Amino acid sequence: MSVASSASTVLAASTVQTIGTVIAVLVLIGLVGYVVATYLSARAEIGSEIELAPNRKPYYSDDQLETSKLNRTLFSGMALLGVIAVGLPLYWLAEPGRQGGAVDGFLNTFEARGLEQYETGSQCVRCHGSEGVGGQATYTVLDGNGAFVAAVNWRAPALNTVLLRFSRDEVYQIIDYGRPGTPMPAWGAEGGGPRSAQEIQNIIDYLASIQLSSDDAQREAQTELATELGLLSEDQQDDDDAVDAAIAQIDYEDLATGEAAFNLGRESGFAGGAYACGRCHTAGWSIITEGEDAVQPPGADVTPYVSYEPGAGAFGPPLSNEVPRQFATVDQLAEFISGGSELGVAYGSRGQGSGRMPGLGDNPNTETVAGDGMLPPEIICAIARYESTLTGGEQPSGEVPTTTSSTAPSTTTTTEASGEEATTTTSEPGFCEAAGLESQD
Ligand code: HEC
Ligand code: HEC
Repeated sequence: MSVASSASTVLAASTVQTIGTVIAVLVLIGLVGYVVATYLSARAEIGSEIELAPNRKPYYSDDQLETSKLNRTLFSGMALLGVIAVGLPLYWLAEPGRQGGAVDGFLNTFEARGLEQYETGSQCVRCHGSEGVGGQATYTVLDGNGAFVAAVNWRAPALNTVLLRFSRDEVYQIIDYGRPGTPMPAWGAEGGGPRSAQEIQNIIDYLASIQLSSDDAQREAQTELATELGLLSEDQQDDDDAVDAAIAQIDYEDLATGEAAFNLGRESGFAGGAYACGRCHTAGWSIITEGEDAVQPPGADVTPYVSYEPGAGAFGPPLSNEVPRQFATVDQLAEFISGGSELGVAYGSRGQGSGRMPGLGDNPNTETVAGDGMLPPEIICAIARYESTLTGGEQPSGEVPTTTSSTAPSTTTTTEASGEEATTTTSEPGFCEAAGLESQD
């Protein structure tokens, strides 16, 4: 949140406060004046109530009563009516703005409190980086008996896209309970942490204020993918034309592209691995072993903790033989990766969602908008093709499974990806076909 907007909130609040204070002071002065005046006039009255008592004074004559007194009363009545006639509509006109301002004011306050928590109170910034760009955290590898093996670093995912992949409730759940077996501690009272529900909500309000747009996130992912595939050098990443040209060269049909996307940022540390699948589906993926001082003490052997094959399973289940074991077709697998899981909602043939698998291609917070996630459909489909080759063996099979399924939408035509909805007369196009990639059934 900007300093300017918080300053204007304070100013807006103080304008109202100033007006209120002025009115209060005027009323107070009036009251004091009245009391003093009554007191002074009362003094003269002592002992002479008989002549001076107000109810004994002769009142206006009939003439006066029926002319000037009556007119004055009627005019003041009309003036007050005028105040109401003008004032009420004015109040009514300004009310939506005032309410909107109040909501903004609350949000600004919540964001500011969340920022304070993020940077100072809970120090999320230490691991997740300034403005949630991702980073790393120290982690101690212990053996089966709890004895020290080595001190390493663990990638902490970027949070400036976390609300593109998880719903607000899911993010709450993660912060509340943390990630056991990783440096991410439980913050909420339910998980045994120090923060109240309100504080966690404020942190999420702050996170919401620093989210990348879906377009920006997708472009970052494509740029990094092109770089990792050797189509773009690191110092060209700011050159829009070079980036466009490199992205256009990405071959999404190539299994190597899917593999690189599955592990996006493993070597480079891009976004703390936030865009990658391996960080949840491959044990030891987030442990950094490359680099001179990466493992302390230097000779320590951490191989048994990091040498798992891709998709061997970690926080998320092993991904071997995903097609046809869990999903009938690569298209259906891609669709699941795009939407992620939801608590209590079944997926695939025997899957029971917990809400912990992120929706990488479709923002779960905007149910009415499709495809507004972190990864474009081309990358999702490339990952799905690569993932479907994982067999749980030493090496991926290298073959994308070809399956036919009566329940799966099967079309052999390829439709152009023109941004418009692809239409076929035979049946609905599958996920990847609609994205302009060949159907894999
Ligand atoms: C000591 C380091 C550390 C601190 C402090 C920390 N985190 Fe984390 N956090 C991590 C790591 C490491 C992960 C990734 C764990 C994994 O590999 O699954 C993570 C994961 C997360 C995730 C899940 C992201 C995803 O896409 O999987 C969220 C959300 C999160 N942290 C929020 C927070 C918030 C909010 C705070 C502050 C209240 C915080 N973290 C403080 C280290 C930390
Ligand atoms: C934040 C951790 C996390 C990330 C990142 C993640 N997943 Fe998952 N994934 C899970 C969890 C947890 C499940 C289990 C389902 C559940 O709990 O809802 C799962 C389930 C799955 C399944 C179904 C497995 C089965 O047999 O039931 C597939 C397929 C899958 N993930 C693929 C991917 C792909 C591909 C990516 C990267 C684009 C990815 N996941 C990224 C956590 C993650």
